[in-house]
Amino acid sequence: MLSRIVFLFVIILNKYVSRASDPDPVQDFCIPITKPASSVIQCKNFSTVTVEDFVYSGIKERGEFGQTGLSSTAVNSNVFPGLNTLGMSLVRADFEVDGINVPHFHPRATEIAYVLKGKVYSGFVDTNNRVFAKVIGQGDVMVFPRGLVHFQMNVGDTQATILGSFNSQNPGLQRIPTAVFGSGIKDELLEKAFGLSSKEISKLKKRLAPHRLS
Ligand SMILES: *[C@@H]1O[C@H](CO)[C@@H](O)[C@H](O)[C@H]1NC(C)=O
Repeated sequence: MLSRIVFLFVIILNKYVSRASDPDPVQDFCIPITKPASSVIQCKNFSTVTVEDFVYSGIKERGEFGQTGLSSTAVNSNVFPGLNTLGMSLVRADFEVDGINVPHFHPRATEIAYVLKGKVYSGFVDTNNRVFAKVIGQGDVMVFPRGLVHFQMNVGDTQATILGSFNSQNPGLQRIPTAVFGSGIKDELLEKAFGLSSKEISKLKKRLAPHRLS
């Protein structure tokens, strides 16, 4: 039921999706330094850049599983400054048995996902609300077009691991359940939009408060 109402919002949300690509770099690389009290990004003096600026070791191990049985670790320019201006990034996603990655989208990037391990029901929904989904396994690759809602569920009997790659240094992530029920939209609007009682809305809001999802 939640998934049905969630998909009703897909078209509305997609109207706000940016279609911009990352700009082309104008130098080899730019390891950012942000001066205090300034939002302007400056590049580190090239003479102080080292190989360590281009290596990130934060996805060797999976993180903690969240409420939905997902552990997802983004490797974007916020955590790996070496990616700045280079127009790409990664995510490592691990799934407990039966774990899910809730319907979500990345406003600024197409994602190509490679299954390292396990069996995952994986798919996306286009703006006509047509679902393209199937079970993919180790070695399979699936692409999620930019800005479209996609989702995954571990349907195997072992943990699953996926590596996702994005054509943006900062693809952005919006989870539909949280965006709708965990964002503070007025109850009255949600009741009208989904035909739910205030009690049902409260239940969803409580469940989907942003801090509860990984
Ligand atoms: C960069 O560092 C070098 C070596 O310390 C220095 O000579 C140069 O002036 C610095 N450049 C800038 C733009 O600060």
